[in-house]
Amino acid sequence: MLLVAALAPFVVLATSVAANPKATRNPHISLSITKHVNGNGTSSLPLRDQKRSMNLVKDCRQSEITDVPLNDSAIAYSVNIDVGDPPTNYNLMIDTGSANTWLGANKPYKKTKTSVKTSDVLNVTYSAGLGFAHGIEYEDTVIIAPGVAIRQSIGVASNSSGIYPYDGVLGLSPKYWSIGMLSPDNTSAIPTVTDNLYGQGKIEQNLVAVSFEPTTSAPVINGELTFGGTDSTKYTGDITYFPLTVTETTPANKYWAIEASFRYGNASATILNTTAGIVDTGTPLIGLATDAYNRYVDVTGAVYDEKAGLLRITPAQYKNLQSLFFDIGGKTYELTPNAQIWPRALNTLMGGETNSIYLVLFDLGPKISKEMGFIAGMPFLERYYCVFDTGNSRVGLATTPFTYADIN
Ligand SMILES: *[C@@H]1O[C@H](CO)[C@@H](O)[C@H](O)[C@H]1NC(C)=O
Ligand SMILES: *[C@@H]1O[C@H](CO)[C@@H](O)[C@H](O)[C@H]1NC(C)=O
Ligand SMILES: *[C@@H]1O[C@H](CO)[C@@H](O)[C@H](O)[C@H]1NC(C)=O
Ligand SMILES: *[C@@H]1O[C@H](CO)[C@@H](O)[C@H](O)[C@H]1NC(C)=O
Ligand SMILES: *[C@@H]1O[C@H](CO)[C@@H](O)[C@H](O)[C@H]1NC(C)=O
Ligand SMILES: *[C@@H]1O[C@H](CO)[C@@H](O)[C@H](O)[C@H]1NC(C)=O
Ligand SMILES: *[C@@H]1O[C@H](CO)[C@@H](O)[C@H](O)[C@H]1NC(C)=O
Repeated sequence: MLLVAALAPFVVLATSVAANPKATRNPHISLSITKHVNGNGTSSLPLRDQKRSMNLVKDCRQSEITDVPLNDSAIAYSVNIDVGDPPTNYNLMIDTGSANTWLGANKPYKKTKTSVKTSDVLNVTYSAGLGFAHGIEYEDTVIIAPGVAIRQSIGVASNSSGIYPYDGVLGLSPKYWSIGMLSPDNTSAIPTVTDNLYGQGKIEQNLVAVSFEPTTSAPVINGELTFGGTDSTKYTGDITYFPLTVTETTPANKYWAIEASFRYGNASATILNTTAGIVDTGTPLIGLATDAYNRYVDVTGAVYDEKAGLLRITPAQYKNLQSLFFDIGGKTYELTPNAQIWPRALNTLMGGETNSIYLVLFDLGPKISKEMGFIAGMPFLERYYCVFDTGNSRVGLATTPFTYADIN
């Protein structure tokens, strides 16, 4: 399996943000993160994404969905975090689509003098790719960066599946997603690491910002999580913020949900009218509601490739491929043709042919399409800096040096 060496987190002190004097008094904390591509040459990626998204629109405890192991052609970003005194380092998958932080899946939890066992049992049932975690809830000291330690409720799995080769999950969704994952206390929301950094006075704002970059090899350390502020070296221009959307099926207190419409190409053919969808670090592709997906297939001429499980286009079609525009709150976010294709260097990992050109859009399927219009997963986040702002119930987006880059 692909594993990377632990990299010590580092603290970035904001020194030059004159416009925001608060930021000069309080550090924001940046951690390096690593992108992994665990492919075994068989694609189950769209299936996994579809199942994952089904989980996101439903209460996962009612999910009828079966598991697909994460190491089966899966892609994830992970971060190394120290827990305990003396500390043990754990490699956790970053997930803005769930709220529980837990470990013990691969490397066993090492109890130290800072471990406090609670009377709660943990039972997180994820859908595809993430399996489940059963165990005991502990409180422990989590060291986010040198000198930045918080007390944090963490699950310690005694049995889990689907998370290999990671040690667990760093849950960064709004904390309300954790309600019902413990028992007997099944009514409290567990504060996330971001909430606790803020609540325990370590950061100035209750937010976490994510910088992903397009990747043509893996594993590679090429991302950054920033708690409490934003890292201006990772984006260009200004960050624009959009309020979280509240609908019946995507309550803003559970998801990072926003509203967007989609246009394709210079003729600006609308392929999806304004609808609620989510921004998600844990989805390796970009999901579109079935109607919109079918329109996209029509305008691109793509065909579904069974072997790769992805849409495929010919070199001639790639030459003609036009941009896909996300219109969000009066702003336009462009996905260039290059941003719409799967990194060709990783084709074979997904069961594809070396020289073929695959697209990163997938069909959310009829069931999910009724509940949400899109999932802006990793290919979107690799082109736009994203701020998950709990304190102000909003999502911020900015361009990066990679927004228009030809990389894939
Ligand atoms: C990859 O994993 C899948 C699911 O576990 C399995 O069915 C398949 O045989 C594996 N393929 C290879 C080439 O190992
Ligand atoms: C965990 O939750 C799932 C889904 O609600 C349930 O089917 C399962 O029995 C629970 N497991 C335990 C050990 O409580
Ligand atoms: C772990 O969970 C699986 C699936 O629910 C179950 O079959 C297995 O018996 C469990 N193992 C232990 C040691 O509890
Ligand atoms: C997936 O991980 C399991 C351990 O959880 C391991 O037994 C299995 O061989 C892995 N599969 C692949 C395709 O790497
Ligand atoms: C919490 O547990 C009680 C007792 O088992 C159950 O009636 C209730 O539905 C549960 N609530 C949630 C939110 O899971
Ligand atoms: C579409 O717009 C792009 C720039 O956004 C331009 O490079 C391209 O030539 C245009 N294509 C057509 C067919 O007008
Ligand atoms: C968007 O809404 C308009 C007005 O209801 C409708 O005419 C049009 O067909 C819709 N477009 C798509 C792509 O659904």
